[in-house]
Amino acid sequence: MNIKHLGTIKLETERLILRKFTANDIKFLHENCFSRDAVTKYVTWKYERLEDTNELINDWISQYPKDSYYHWCIELKETHEPIGSIELRPEGHEAEIGYRIGDKWWNHGYATEAFKEVIRFAFDVLKIEEISIDHHIENDASGKVALKNGFKFVGIIHNGREFREGWRDIKKYSMNAQEYAELNKK
Ligand SMILES: CC(C)(COP(=O)(O)OP(=O)(O)OC[C@H]1O[C@@H](n2cnc3c(N)ncnc32)[C@H](O)[C@@H]1OP(=O)(O)O)[C@@H](O)C(=O)NCCC(=O)NCCS
Repeated sequence: MNIKHLGTIKLETERLILRKFTANDIKFLHENCFSRDAVTKYVTWKYERLEDTNELINDWISQYPKDSYYHWCIELKETHEPIGSIELRPEGHEAEIGYRIGDKWWNHGYATEAFKEVIRFAFDVLKIEEISIDHHIENDASGKVALKNGFKFVGIIHNGREFREGWRDIKKYSMNAQEYAELNKK
C-alpha cells in the first residue's frame, strides 16, 4: 500500500510547535542557528551570509506544495522563537530524519522532544515502515537523540558522507514500525 502523504502539517508537543517556515523566521534562524560554527560543524553545509540562509529557507518554503515534503521549523511555545529545524525525508516506505537546534538551546531535551513527535507522526499517521538517522562519527549528541527515542545502533559506514571537512565515517541508527509499536504498547 502506498503512503498517503500529508505534507508539513502543524504538530505540537508540550513545549514546542512544529510548523512550516515563513520568511519571518529567516534572520533569527540565520543568526542563532544556521550560521553558527557549533551547529554546522557536523552538518554538510554552512551559511555565512544572510542571503545564503534566505535562499536556503526560501527553497524549503517553495517545496511545501509537495505533499511528500516534510520540513518543520521548531518553535518554542514559551517565547515563540524559532530555534531550529527537523525534517523527514521519505523514500518509499522508509524515511530519514535530520535535525538541528541553535546552540543557545542545547541540552534542554528539545531535539529529543521534536524527534519523538516526528516519529509518532511518521509511524502512526503516515505508516512509514522504517526510519533511520546517521551522523558524523564524532557527533554523539545527535546519536543520543535517536537512542533516547529507542532507536538501535546499526553500525559505522566508512566515509559515509561528505562534510565540510571532507568525507568522514558516519554512525547509523534505525527503528522499524514493529519496534515502535512494541515500545509504545500500553
Ligand atoms: C544534535 C542536536 C540537534 C541535539 O539537540 P538538543 O536539543 O541539545 O538535544 P537534547 O537536549 O534533546 O539531547 C541531547 C543529548 O545529547 C547529550 N550530549 C550533548 N553533547 C554531547 C556530547 N558532546 N557527547 C555525548 N552526548 C552529548 C546531552 O547530554 C543529551 O543527552 P541526555 O538528555 O541524556 O543528557 C544539537 O546538538 C545540534 O543541533 N547539533 C548540531 C547539528 C547537528 O549535529 N545535527 C544533527 C546532524 S545528524
